[in-house]
Amino acid sequence: MDFSVKSGSPEKQRSACLVAGIFEPRRFSSIAEQLDQISEGYISALLRRGELEGKVGQTLLLHHVPNVLSERILLIGCGKERELDERKYKQVIYQTINTLNNTGSMEAVCFLTELHVKRRNTYWKVRLAVETAKDSLYTFDELKSNKKVRRRPLRKIVFNLSTRRELTSGERAIQHGLAIATGIKAAKDLANMPPNICNSAYLASQARLLANSYSQNTTTMVLGEKDMKELGMNAYLAVGEGSTNESLMSVITYKGNPDPEAQPIVLVGKGLTFDSGGISLKSSDNMNEMKYDMCGAATVYGVMCVALALNLPLNIVGVLACCENMVDGRSLRPGDILTTLSGQTVEVLNTDAEGRLVLCDTLTYVERFNPEIVIDIATLTGACIIALGHHFTGLMSNHNQLSHELSSAAEQAGDRAWHLPLVDEFQEQLESHFADMTNLGGRPGGAITAGCFLSRFARQYNWAHLDIAGTAWNSGKTQGATGRPVAMLSQFLLNRSVFSSDESINK
Ligand code: BES
Ligand code: MN
Ligand code: ZN
Repeated sequence: MDFSVKSGSPEKQRSACLVAGIFEPRRFSSIAEQLDQISEGYISALLRRGELEGKVGQTLLLHHVPNVLSERILLIGCGKERELDERKYKQVIYQTINTLNNTGSMEAVCFLTELHVKRRNTYWKVRLAVETAKDSLYTFDELKSNKKVRRRPLRKIVFNLSTRRELTSGERAIQHGLAIATGIKAAKDLANMPPNICNSAYLASQARLLANSYSQNTTTMVLGEKDMKELGMNAYLAVGEGSTNESLMSVITYKGNPDPEAQPIVLVGKGLTFDSGGISLKSSDNMNEMKYDMCGAATVYGVMCVALALNLPLNIVGVLACCENMVDGRSLRPGDILTTLSGQTVEVLNTDAEGRLVLCDTLTYVERFNPEIVIDIATLTGACIIALGHHFTGLMSNHNQLSHELSSAAEQAGDRAWHLPLVDEFQEQLESHFADMTNLGGRPGGAITAGCFLSRFARQYNWAHLDIAGTAWNSGKTQGATGRPVAMLSQFLLNRSVFSSDESINK
Protein backbone atom coordinates (compact mmCIF):
# COMPACT_ATOMS: atom_id res chain seq x y z
CA MET A 1 0.00 0.00 0.00
CA ASP A 2 1.10 3.49 -0.81
CA PHE A 3 1.18 6.24 1.84
CA SER A 4 1.71 9.96 1.42
CA VAL A 5 1.05 13.28 3.15
CA LYS A 6 -0.38 16.52 1.86
CA SER A 7 -1.90 19.68 3.18
CA GLY A 8 -5.12 20.85 1.53
CA SER A 9 -8.75 21.71 2.21
CA PRO A 10 -11.50 19.11 1.97
CA GLU A 11 -13.60 20.82 -0.71
CA LYS A 12 -10.73 20.70 -3.19
CA GLN A 13 -10.08 16.97 -2.76
CA ARG A 14 -11.14 14.64 -5.51
CA SER A 15 -10.63 11.15 -4.11
CA ALA A 16 -12.54 7.89 -3.84
CA CYS A 17 -13.15 8.60 -0.18
CA LEU A 18 -12.57 11.27 2.46
CA VAL A 19 -12.22 10.17 6.07
CA ALA A 20 -13.43 12.56 8.76
CA GLY A 21 -13.87 12.19 12.52
CA ILE A 22 -17.05 12.66 14.54
CA PHE A 23 -16.78 13.10 18.30
CA GLU A 24 -19.22 11.91 20.89
CA PRO A 25 -22.00 13.06 21.25
CA ARG A 26 -22.59 13.95 17.56
CA ARG A 27 -19.86 16.63 17.52
CA PHE A 28 -18.00 17.67 14.39
CA SER A 29 -14.27 17.63 13.99
CA SER A 30 -13.16 20.74 12.10
CA ILE A 31 -13.05 18.82 8.81
CA ALA A 32 -16.50 17.35 9.33
CA GLU A 33 -17.68 20.88 10.04
CA GLN A 34 -16.24 22.14 6.76
CA LEU A 35 -17.78 19.26 4.83
CA ASP A 36 -21.13 20.01 6.46
CA GLN A 37 -20.95 23.63 5.34
CA ILE A 38 -20.04 22.70 1.78
CA SER A 39 -22.89 20.23 1.62
CA GLU A 40 -25.30 22.75 3.18
CA GLY A 41 -26.08 20.82 6.31
CA TYR A 42 -26.27 17.35 4.78
CA ILE A 43 -24.15 15.79 7.52
CA SER A 44 -25.74 17.60 10.47
CA ALA A 45 -29.14 16.40 9.27
CA LEU A 46 -27.90 12.80 9.36
CA LEU A 47 -26.47 13.21 12.85
CA ARG A 48 -29.71 14.77 14.08
CA ARG A 49 -31.53 11.70 12.78
CA GLY A 50 -29.29 9.60 15.04
CA GLU A 51 -27.27 7.88 12.33
CA LEU A 52 -23.97 8.26 14.20
CA GLU A 53 -23.32 8.97 17.86
CA GLY A 54 -19.53 9.27 17.57
CA LYS A 55 -18.50 6.35 19.80
CA VAL A 56 -15.00 5.03 19.13
CA GLY A 57 -14.96 2.93 15.98
CA GLN A 58 -18.55 3.62 14.83
CA THR A 59 -18.72 4.24 11.09
CA LEU A 60 -21.06 5.78 8.55
CA LEU A 61 -20.26 5.66 4.85
CA LEU A 62 -21.86 8.37 2.71
CA HIS A 63 -22.09 8.42 -1.09
CA HIS A 64 -22.32 11.44 -3.37
CA VAL A 65 -22.67 14.08 -0.70
CA PRO A 66 -23.94 17.31 -2.32
CA ASN A 67 -21.19 19.73 -3.55
CA VAL A 68 -18.39 17.37 -2.47
CA LEU A 69 -16.03 16.32 -5.27
CA SER A 70 -15.04 13.00 -3.71
CA GLU A 71 -17.31 10.02 -4.28
CA ARG A 72 -17.62 9.04 -0.65
CA ILE A 73 -17.16 10.29 2.85
CA LEU A 74 -16.38 7.90 5.67
CA LEU A 75 -17.41 9.34 9.00
CA ILE A 76 -15.72 7.63 11.90
CA GLY A 77 -16.53 7.88 15.60
CA CYS A 78 -13.59 9.06 17.73
CA GLY A 79 -15.21 9.12 21.18
CA LYS A 80 -15.14 12.21 23.41
CA GLU A 81 -12.87 14.87 21.94
CA ARG A 82 -10.87 15.46 25.12
CA GLU A 83 -10.40 11.75 25.74
CA LEU A 84 -8.71 10.86 22.45
CA ASP A 85 -5.58 9.02 23.56
CA GLU A 86 -3.11 6.66 21.86
CA ARG A 87 -5.23 3.57 22.34
CA LYS A 88 -8.42 5.12 20.96
CA TYR A 89 -6.52 6.72 18.09
CA LYS A 90 -5.19 3.29 17.11
CA GLN A 91 -8.69 1.79 17.35
CA VAL A 92 -10.05 4.54 15.10
CA ILE A 93 -7.33 4.00 12.49
CA TYR A 94 -7.79 0.23 12.64
CA GLN A 95 -11.53 0.55 12.04
CA THR A 96 -11.01 3.11 9.26
CA ILE A 97 -8.61 0.90 7.34
CA ASN A 98 -10.79 -2.17 7.65
CA THR A 99 -13.89 -0.29 6.55
CA LEU A 100 -12.12 1.22 3.54
CA ASN A 101 -10.69 -2.14 2.58
CA ASN A 102 -14.06 -3.91 2.89
CA THR A 103 -16.13 -1.35 1.04
CA GLY A 104 -14.12 -1.11 -2.16
CA SER A 105 -12.52 2.31 -1.67
CA MET A 106 -9.18 1.83 -3.35
CA GLU A 107 -7.86 5.18 -2.22
CA ALA A 108 -8.67 7.66 0.48
CA VAL A 109 -7.69 11.01 1.91
CA CYS A 110 -7.61 10.74 5.69
CA PHE A 111 -8.06 13.79 7.94
CA LEU A 112 -7.67 11.87 11.21
CA THR A 113 -4.00 12.86 11.50
CA GLU A 114 -5.22 16.42 12.15
CA LEU A 115 -7.08 15.44 15.31
CA HIS A 116 -5.57 16.31 18.64
CA VAL A 117 -4.23 13.20 20.38
CA LYS A 118 -3.09 13.69 23.98
CA ARG A 119 0.69 14.14 24.30
CA ARG A 120 1.35 13.25 20.63
CA ASN A 121 2.67 15.26 17.68
CA THR A 122 2.11 14.99 13.93
CA TYR A 123 5.11 12.71 13.42
CA TRP A 124 3.66 10.27 15.93
CA LYS A 125 0.13 10.39 14.51
CA VAL A 126 1.32 9.70 10.97
CA ARG A 127 3.80 7.01 11.98
CA LEU A 128 1.31 5.16 14.15
CA ALA A 129 -1.33 5.45 11.43
CA VAL A 130 1.05 3.75 8.98
CA GLU A 131 1.99 1.03 11.48
CA THR A 132 -1.64 0.43 12.46
CA ALA A 133 -2.81 0.38 8.85
CA LYS A 134 -0.23 -2.23 7.90
CA ASP A 135 -1.01 -4.26 10.99
CA SER A 136 -4.75 -4.26 10.40
CA LEU A 137 -4.29 -5.61 6.87
CA TYR A 138 -1.93 -8.41 7.97
CA THR A 139 -2.91 -11.98 7.12
CA PHE A 140 -0.94 -15.20 7.29
CA ASP A 141 -2.41 -17.47 4.64
CA GLU A 142 0.73 -18.81 3.02
CA LEU A 143 -0.26 -22.34 3.99
CA LYS A 144 -3.94 -22.13 3.07
CA SER A 145 -5.06 -23.57 -0.27
CA ASN A 146 -7.78 -21.00 -0.74
CA LYS A 147 -6.45 -17.55 -0.13
CA LYS A 148 -8.84 -14.66 0.39
CA VAL A 149 -8.58 -12.23 -2.51
CA ARG A 150 -10.10 -8.78 -2.24
CA ARG A 151 -11.62 -7.52 -5.45
CA ARG A 152 -10.97 -3.86 -4.69
CA PRO A 153 -8.35 -3.63 -1.93
CA LEU A 154 -7.27 -0.33 -0.42
CA ARG A 155 -4.19 0.77 -2.38
CA LYS A 156 -3.42 4.30 -1.44
CA ILE A 157 -3.93 6.52 1.55
CA VAL A 158 -3.09 10.20 1.83
CA PHE A 159 -2.84 11.74 5.29
CA ASN A 160 -3.87 15.34 5.33
CA LEU A 161 -1.95 17.66 7.64
CA SER A 162 -3.21 21.04 8.80
CA THR A 163 -0.12 23.03 7.75
CA ARG A 164 2.50 22.69 5.03
CA ARG A 165 5.14 23.14 7.72
CA GLU A 166 4.39 19.62 8.97
CA LEU A 167 4.96 17.90 5.63
CA THR A 168 8.64 17.11 6.21
CA SER A 169 8.06 15.42 9.54
CA GLY A 170 5.02 13.69 8.03
CA GLU A 171 7.18 12.25 5.27
CA ARG A 172 9.81 11.11 7.74
CA ALA A 173 7.05 9.50 9.81
CA ILE A 174 5.89 7.52 6.77
CA GLN A 175 9.42 6.35 6.06
CA HIS A 176 9.96 5.26 9.66
CA GLY A 177 6.46 3.79 9.96
CA LEU A 178 6.88 1.71 6.81
CA ALA A 179 10.25 0.36 7.94
CA ILE A 180 8.89 -0.56 11.37
CA ALA A 181 5.78 -2.13 9.82
CA THR A 182 8.01 -4.24 7.57
CA GLY A 183 10.03 -5.38 10.60
CA ILE A 184 6.84 -6.25 12.49
CA LYS A 185 5.53 -8.22 9.54
CA ALA A 186 8.82 -10.09 9.17
CA ALA A 187 8.72 -11.04 12.86
CA LYS A 188 5.10 -12.14 12.65
CA ASP A 189 5.67 -14.24 9.54
CA LEU A 190 8.54 -16.13 11.15
CA ALA A 191 6.64 -16.63 14.39
CA ASN A 192 3.42 -17.81 12.76
CA MET A 193 5.26 -20.36 10.64
CA PRO A 194 4.72 -23.92 12.00
CA PRO A 195 7.56 -25.62 13.90
CA ASN A 196 8.00 -28.40 11.34
CA ILE A 197 9.01 -25.74 8.80
CA CYS A 198 10.44 -23.02 11.00
CA ASN A 199 13.29 -24.86 12.71
CA SER A 200 16.76 -23.56 13.52
CA ALA A 201 17.98 -24.19 9.97
CA TYR A 202 15.06 -22.23 8.53
CA LEU A 203 15.82 -19.27 10.78
CA ALA A 204 19.51 -19.48 9.87
CA SER A 205 18.63 -19.41 6.17
CA GLN A 206 16.42 -16.34 6.73
CA ALA A 207 19.28 -14.64 8.57
CA ARG A 208 21.63 -15.41 5.69
CA LEU A 209 19.15 -14.11 3.11
CA LEU A 210 18.80 -10.87 5.05
CA ALA A 211 22.55 -10.28 5.02
CA ASN A 212 22.74 -11.17 1.33
CA SER A 213 20.18 -8.54 0.40
CA TYR A 214 22.18 -5.84 2.21
CA SER A 215 25.58 -7.24 1.40
CA GLN A 216 27.68 -4.09 1.85
CA ASN A 217 27.65 -3.75 5.60
CA THR A 218 25.85 -6.84 6.86
CA THR A 219 27.07 -10.39 7.37
CA THR A 220 25.59 -13.52 8.87
CA MET A 221 27.58 -16.25 10.57
CA VAL A 222 25.96 -19.48 11.73
CA LEU A 223 27.38 -21.62 14.54
CA GLY A 224 26.38 -25.29 14.60
CA GLU A 225 26.58 -27.90 17.33
CA LYS A 226 30.20 -28.75 16.55
CA ASP A 227 31.25 -25.09 16.91
CA MET A 228 29.33 -24.74 20.14
CA LYS A 229 30.88 -27.91 21.54
CA GLU A 230 34.37 -26.59 20.82
CA LEU A 231 33.55 -23.33 22.57
CA GLY A 232 32.00 -25.06 25.59
CA MET A 233 28.42 -23.85 25.23
CA ASN A 234 27.18 -26.91 27.09
CA ALA A 235 24.01 -25.44 28.57
CA TYR A 236 22.75 -24.27 25.17
CA LEU A 237 23.66 -27.60 23.57
CA ALA A 238 22.00 -29.66 26.31
CA VAL A 239 18.60 -28.10 25.54
CA GLY A 240 18.72 -29.18 21.89
CA GLU A 241 20.08 -32.64 22.64
CA GLY A 242 16.69 -34.36 22.42
CA SER A 243 15.85 -32.89 19.02
CA THR A 244 16.72 -34.25 15.60
CA ASN A 245 16.95 -30.66 14.38
CA GLU A 246 20.43 -29.28 14.86
CA SER A 247 20.83 -26.34 17.27
CA LEU A 248 22.05 -23.31 15.32
CA MET A 249 23.01 -19.88 16.53
CA SER A 250 22.83 -17.20 13.83
CA VAL A 251 24.79 -14.00 14.28
CA ILE A 252 23.82 -11.06 12.06
CA THR A 253 26.36 -8.23 12.13
CA TYR A 254 25.37 -4.81 10.79
CA LYS A 255 27.88 -1.98 10.64
CA GLY A 256 26.00 1.27 10.10
CA ASN A 257 28.13 3.48 12.33
CA PRO A 258 30.59 5.66 10.38
CA ASP A 259 33.12 4.25 12.84
CA PRO A 260 33.20 0.50 12.12
CA GLU A 261 35.03 -0.05 15.39
CA ALA A 262 32.36 1.65 17.53
CA GLN A 263 31.02 -0.69 20.23
CA PRO A 264 27.88 -2.45 19.02
CA ILE A 265 24.42 -2.79 20.51
CA VAL A 266 23.84 -6.52 20.80
CA LEU A 267 20.35 -8.03 20.60
CA VAL A 268 19.93 -11.65 21.69
CA GLY A 269 16.70 -13.50 20.91
CA LYS A 270 15.47 -16.74 22.48
CA GLY A 271 14.73 -18.99 19.51
CA LEU A 272 13.09 -22.18 20.79
CA THR A 273 11.40 -23.27 17.58
CA PHE A 274 9.33 -25.60 19.74
CA ASP A 275 9.27 -26.03 23.51
CA SER A 276 7.66 -29.30 24.59
CA GLY A 277 9.15 -28.82 28.05
CA GLY A 278 11.45 -31.82 27.51
CA ILE A 279 11.37 -34.57 30.17
CA SER A 280 9.53 -32.07 32.41
CA LEU A 281 6.87 -32.29 29.73
CA LYS A 282 4.28 -29.55 29.38
CA SER A 283 0.59 -30.42 29.54
CA SER A 284 -0.91 -30.87 26.10
CA ASP A 285 -3.44 -28.01 26.24
CA ASN A 286 -2.35 -25.34 23.80
CA MET A 287 1.07 -26.93 23.48
CA ASN A 288 0.90 -25.98 19.80
CA GLU A 289 1.43 -22.38 20.95
CA MET A 290 4.95 -23.31 21.98
CA LYS A 291 5.90 -22.80 18.34
CA TYR A 292 5.92 -19.13 19.41
CA ASP A 293 8.80 -19.79 21.80
CA MET A 294 11.09 -18.37 19.12
CA CYS A 295 9.43 -14.94 19.21
CA GLY A 296 12.54 -13.41 20.79
CA ALA A 297 14.59 -14.50 17.79
CA ALA A 298 11.83 -13.33 15.44
CA THR A 299 11.92 -9.92 17.17
CA VAL A 300 15.67 -9.64 16.69
CA TYR A 301 15.27 -10.52 13.02
CA GLY A 302 12.48 -7.92 12.66
CA VAL A 303 14.51 -5.19 14.37
CA MET A 304 17.51 -5.96 12.13
CA CYS A 305 15.19 -5.49 9.12
CA VAL A 306 14.23 -2.05 10.45
CA ALA A 307 17.82 -0.99 11.14
CA LEU A 308 18.89 -2.09 7.66
CA ALA A 309 15.94 -0.47 5.91
CA LEU A 310 16.58 2.86 7.66
CA ASN A 311 20.33 2.49 7.40
CA LEU A 312 20.68 3.53 11.04
CA PRO A 313 24.09 4.97 11.94
CA LEU A 314 24.75 2.29 14.56
CA ASN A 315 26.69 -0.94 14.83
CA ILE A 316 24.29 -3.72 15.77
CA VAL A 317 24.77 -7.44 16.31
CA GLY A 318 21.60 -9.57 16.25
CA VAL A 319 21.83 -13.10 17.61
CA LEU A 320 19.15 -15.73 16.99
CA ALA A 321 19.75 -18.41 19.64
CA CYS A 322 17.83 -21.30 18.11
CA CYS A 323 17.15 -24.90 19.08
CA GLU A 324 14.27 -27.21 19.95
CA ASN A 325 13.32 -28.67 23.35
CA MET A 326 12.09 -32.24 22.76
CA VAL A 327 11.65 -35.56 24.56
CA ASP A 328 14.08 -38.32 23.64
CA GLY A 329 16.55 -40.83 25.06
CA ARG A 330 19.25 -38.23 24.66
CA SER A 331 17.30 -35.43 26.27
CA LEU A 332 18.54 -33.31 29.11
CA ARG A 333 17.35 -34.74 32.48
CA PRO A 334 16.23 -33.13 35.74
CA GLY A 335 19.27 -33.54 37.98
CA ASP A 336 21.86 -33.04 35.26
CA ILE A 337 24.60 -30.55 36.08
CA LEU A 338 25.91 -28.48 33.19
CA THR A 339 29.11 -26.49 32.93
CA THR A 340 28.23 -23.28 31.11
CA LEU A 341 30.49 -21.33 28.77
CA SER A 342 31.15 -18.90 31.65
CA GLY A 343 32.49 -21.77 33.76
CA GLN A 344 29.62 -21.51 36.26
CA THR A 345 27.74 -24.78 36.86
CA VAL A 346 23.97 -25.19 36.76
CA GLU A 347 21.85 -27.96 38.25
CA VAL A 348 18.85 -28.60 36.04
CA LEU A 349 15.77 -29.01 38.23
CA ASN A 350 13.24 -28.55 35.46
CA THR A 351 13.95 -29.14 31.78
CA ASP A 352 11.12 -26.75 30.92
CA ALA A 353 13.17 -23.84 32.26
CA GLU A 354 15.28 -24.20 29.10
CA GLY A 355 15.25 -20.64 27.80
CA ARG A 356 17.66 -19.42 30.46
CA LEU A 357 20.02 -22.31 29.65
CA VAL A 358 20.19 -21.29 26.00
CA LEU A 359 20.47 -17.61 26.83
CA CYS A 360 23.14 -17.90 29.53
CA ASP A 361 25.70 -19.31 27.11
CA THR A 362 24.69 -16.84 24.41
CA LEU A 363 25.11 -13.94 26.85
CA THR A 364 28.64 -15.15 27.62
CA TYR A 365 29.37 -15.70 23.93
CA VAL A 366 28.51 -12.08 22.99
CA GLU A 367 31.17 -10.70 25.36
CA ARG A 368 33.52 -11.15 22.41
CA PHE A 369 31.81 -8.28 20.57
CA ASN A 370 32.81 -5.83 23.31
CA PRO A 371 29.22 -4.60 23.41
CA GLU A 372 28.10 -1.16 24.54
CA ILE A 373 24.74 -2.67 25.50
CA VAL A 374 23.21 -6.14 25.40
CA ILE A 375 19.44 -6.63 25.30
CA ASP A 376 17.93 -10.09 25.34
CA ILE A 377 14.36 -10.74 24.26
CA ALA A 378 12.66 -13.95 25.35
CA THR A 379 9.34 -15.70 25.90
CA LEU A 380 10.91 -16.73 29.16
CA THR A 381 8.31 -17.30 31.87
CA GLY A 382 4.63 -18.03 32.33
CA ALA A 383 5.12 -16.11 35.59
CA CYS A 384 5.59 -12.89 33.62
CA ILE A 385 2.07 -13.32 32.24
CA ILE A 386 0.77 -13.72 35.79
CA ALA A 387 2.64 -10.59 36.88
CA LEU A 388 1.90 -8.24 33.96
CA GLY A 389 -0.81 -9.86 31.84
CA HIS A 390 -0.77 -9.44 28.09
CA HIS A 391 -0.33 -5.69 27.81
CA PHE A 392 3.15 -5.14 29.20
CA THR A 393 6.48 -6.68 28.38
CA GLY A 394 8.57 -7.36 31.50
CA LEU A 395 11.73 -5.23 31.63
CA MET A 396 14.70 -6.03 33.87
CA SER A 397 18.16 -4.53 33.79
CA ASN A 398 21.46 -4.21 35.62
CA HIS A 399 21.73 -0.55 34.53
CA ASN A 400 19.26 2.20 35.49
CA GLN A 401 19.91 4.51 32.56
CA LEU A 402 19.35 1.70 30.07
CA SER A 403 16.15 0.63 31.71
CA HIS A 404 14.87 4.23 31.55
CA GLU A 405 15.81 4.50 27.90
CA LEU A 406 13.92 1.32 27.13
CA SER A 407 10.87 2.34 29.18
CA SER A 408 10.57 5.63 27.38
CA ALA A 409 11.11 4.05 23.96
CA ALA A 410 8.30 1.64 24.83
CA GLU A 411 6.03 4.51 25.84
CA GLN A 412 6.84 6.50 22.70
CA ALA A 413 6.24 3.59 20.38
CA GLY A 414 3.00 2.52 22.05
CA ASP A 415 4.58 -0.90 22.68
CA ARG A 416 4.63 -0.84 26.43
CA ALA A 417 6.97 -2.39 29.00
CA TRP A 418 7.03 -2.40 32.80
CA HIS A 419 10.13 -2.43 34.91
CA LEU A 420 10.52 -5.28 37.42
CA PRO A 421 13.05 -5.16 40.29
CA LEU A 422 16.19 -7.25 39.87
CA VAL A 423 17.49 -7.11 43.43
CA ASP A 424 19.77 -9.52 45.26
CA GLU A 425 17.05 -10.79 47.59
CA PHE A 426 15.74 -12.93 44.74
CA GLN A 427 19.12 -14.48 43.98
CA GLU A 428 18.82 -16.78 47.02
CA GLN A 429 16.00 -18.68 45.34
CA LEU A 430 18.51 -20.05 42.84
CA GLU A 431 20.73 -21.78 45.41
CA SER A 432 21.68 -25.38 44.60
CA HIS A 433 22.88 -28.25 46.80
CA PHE A 434 25.32 -29.49 44.20
CA ALA A 435 26.14 -26.76 41.68
CA ASP A 436 26.68 -22.99 41.57
CA MET A 437 22.95 -22.47 40.97
CA THR A 438 19.79 -24.22 39.82
CA ASN A 439 17.73 -23.27 36.80
CA LEU A 440 14.56 -23.06 38.90
CA GLY A 441 13.61 -20.22 41.24
CA GLY A 442 10.25 -21.48 42.48
CA ARG A 443 6.84 -19.84 42.09
CA PRO A 444 7.28 -16.50 43.90
CA GLY A 445 8.56 -13.86 41.49
CA GLY A 446 9.20 -16.38 38.72
CA ALA A 447 9.82 -13.76 36.04
CA ILE A 448 12.30 -11.99 38.29
CA THR A 449 14.24 -15.10 39.36
CA ALA A 450 14.62 -15.99 35.68
CA GLY A 451 16.01 -12.48 35.15
CA CYS A 452 18.32 -12.99 38.15
CA PHE A 453 19.61 -16.21 36.62
CA LEU A 454 20.48 -14.38 33.40
CA SER A 455 22.06 -11.46 35.27
CA ARG A 456 24.77 -13.85 36.51
CA PHE A 457 25.94 -14.18 32.91
CA ALA A 458 25.68 -10.49 32.03
CA ARG A 459 28.13 -8.99 34.51
CA GLN A 460 30.56 -7.77 31.86
CA TYR A 461 28.31 -5.15 30.24
CA ASN A 462 25.18 -3.02 30.53
CA TRP A 463 22.33 -5.39 29.98
CA ALA A 464 18.54 -5.50 29.82
CA HIS A 465 16.17 -8.43 29.59
CA LEU A 466 12.72 -8.27 28.01
CA ASP A 467 10.31 -11.05 28.98
CA ILE A 468 7.75 -11.14 26.17
CA ALA A 469 5.86 -14.29 27.26
CA GLY A 470 2.66 -12.25 27.61
CA THR A 471 3.02 -9.90 24.66
CA ALA A 472 4.53 -11.84 21.73
CA TRP A 473 1.38 -13.56 20.59
CA ASN A 474 -2.39 -13.69 21.02
CA SER A 475 -4.18 -16.91 21.91
CA GLY A 476 -7.71 -18.03 21.14
CA LYS A 477 -9.88 -16.51 18.44
CA THR A 478 -7.37 -13.91 17.32
CA GLN A 479 -4.41 -16.30 17.53
CA GLY A 480 -1.24 -15.07 15.92
CA ALA A 481 2.05 -13.36 16.59
CA THR A 482 1.87 -9.66 17.49
CA GLY A 483 5.32 -8.60 16.29
CA ARG A 484 6.02 -7.10 19.72
CA PRO A 485 8.42 -5.66 20.81
CA VAL A 486 9.83 -4.77 17.37
CA ALA A 487 8.32 -1.26 17.57
CA MET A 488 9.76 -0.62 21.02
CA LEU A 489 13.29 -1.70 20.11
CA SER A 490 13.16 0.16 16.79
CA GLN A 491 12.26 3.28 18.75
CA PHE A 492 15.15 2.63 21.11
CA LEU A 493 17.52 2.46 18.13
CA LEU A 494 15.97 5.55 16.48
CA ASN A 495 16.48 7.47 19.72
CA ARG A 496 20.13 6.46 19.65
CA SER A 497 20.49 7.69 16.06
CA VAL A 498 20.72 11.41 15.51
CA PHE A 499 17.84 13.07 13.70
CA SER A 500 16.81 16.71 13.65
CA SER A 501 14.32 17.70 16.33
CA ASP A 502 11.48 18.04 13.78
CA GLU A 503 11.54 14.33 13.22
CA SER A 504 11.59 13.51 16.88
CA ILE A 505 8.66 11.68 18.33
CA ASN A 506 8.91 13.85 21.44
CA LYS A 507 8.18 17.14 19.80
N1 BES B 1 8.56 -20.84 26.99
C1 BES B 1 8.17 -21.07 28.32
C2 BES B 1 7.48 -19.87 28.95
C3 BES B 1 6.09 -19.60 28.48
C4 BES B 1 5.04 -20.38 28.91
C5 BES B 1 5.84 -18.54 27.66
C6 BES B 1 3.76 -20.10 28.48
C7 BES B 1 4.56 -18.24 27.24
C8 BES B 1 3.51 -19.04 27.66
C9 BES B 1 9.40 -21.38 29.17
O1 BES B 1 10.38 -22.11 28.54
C10 BES B 1 8.92 -22.18 30.33
O2 BES B 1 8.45 -23.25 30.12
N2 BES B 1 9.06 -21.62 31.51
C11 BES B 1 8.63 -22.26 32.69
C12 BES B 1 9.68 -22.00 33.73
C13 BES B 1 9.47 -22.76 34.99
C14 BES B 1 9.64 -24.25 34.76
C15 BES B 1 10.45 -22.26 36.00
C16 BES B 1 7.29 -21.67 33.10
O3 BES B 1 7.09 -20.47 32.96
O4 BES B 1 6.43 -22.44 33.52
MN1 MN C 1 10.04 -24.19 28.67
ZN1 ZN D 1 10.50 -21.97 26.52
